[in-house]
Amino acid sequence: MTQKIVVIPGDGIGPSIVEATLKVLEGLGCPFDYVSTNVGADALEKYGQLIPDEAIEAIETHKVALKGPVTTPIGEGFTSVNVGLRKKFDLYANVRPVVSFQGTRSRYENVDIIVIRENTEGIYSGKGQVMNDEGTRAETVSVITKEGAERVTRYAYELARQRGRRKVTVVHKANILKATSGLFLKTAHEVGANYPDIETEEMIIDNCCMQLVMNPERFDIVVTSNLFGDILSDLCAGLVGGLGLAPSANVGKELAIFEAVHGSAPDIAGKNIANPTAIMLAAAMMLDHLKMEDRAALLRRSLRTVIEEGAHKTVDLGGTASTDEFTAAVLDQIRAV
Ligand code: NAI
Ligand code: MG
Repeated sequence: MTQKIVVIPGDGIGPSIVEATLKVLEGLGCPFDYVSTNVGADALEKYGQLIPDEAIEAIETHKVALKGPVTTPIGEGFTSVNVGLRKKFDLYANVRPVVSFQGTRSRYENVDIIVIRENTEGIYSGKGQVMNDEGTRAETVSVITKEGAERVTRYAYELARQRGRRKVTVVHKANILKATSGLFLKTAHEVGANYPDIETEEMIIDNCCMQLVMNPERFDIVVTSNLFGDILSDLCAGLVGGLGLAPSANVGKELAIFEAVHGSAPDIAGKNIANPTAIMLAAAMMLDHLKMEDRAALLRRSLRTVIEEGAHKTVDLGGTASTDEFTAAVLDQIRAV
């Protein structure tokens, strides 16, 4: 049966980088049928909803989505589309691989880290946000459950096994946040005990930040709670040359949404200069998810070759190529095999 993929063009540079990605997937000979829908500012204009029912239904039915970045309108009453989708579909693991590319402004050459952030709990669960009447005292409740910690750490160890990785670093602050971070850490060790083939390392968040900057090559898979993961995953994107190269997957029990880490870049929208690498790498993660590992590997190799050869680099990487020229060069690499 042909695999159906929900395609969400998004806003700003979204439609152009998504279109470029679909061309590359076609070049790879992927047997996909695309179901097009939208969320974000464009959807709000057309349907009066940031996340239209039609989009929810499509994602629920087909279970795999490739999503462009969206603009969250500024103003009262708009919650982030991404937070909305995460909550709606219980996308508990945010997976962000960061890998060095030669020929970019990265400070390091051998970074290869997968950061896995718990996406639904912790201080971001939105519980108990209160302010006293004088506006002088504020409070937020952080919630960690055993179940929540278990499923995300198990995801990390399973991924380690699948990918032949050696080590999972559990990042925490259990020395101070004894209840919440303590439960996360304890649960991670219980889960890790079932994976004797994978080394478990624990590291306190502040030390981890320093170690990542000083010596990122020592890290393999990192798993942590929501707030720490939010910060660490951006830090890691910075280790390999920034947003244009950083893909992500939001994974739930049954479905997954693949996207770039960056936003809709309104400052460069419509100029045909956006770098589509991040969303193409997200598409490679989608191919892995669909057990099309050979095509995923070919896509990654082709992107790497184009960036490392340097003749068709986009502006953000110090080149002069347009989105179209870069995409054509990636397609040439794919066809050259
Ligand atoms: P942004 O990531 O859109 O842009 C930051 C800077 O990086 C800009 O100078 C932009 O031109 C550049 N940039 C980003 N992606 C690029 C690419 N592929 N190629 C070349 N340059 C690139 O962040 P910003 O400006 O803070 O947010 C813009 C909008 O995007 C906001 O409405 C924000 O809420 C939304 N956003 C959406 C996300 C998503 O849908 N996953 C994630 C982050 C932000
Ligand atoms: Mg963030």
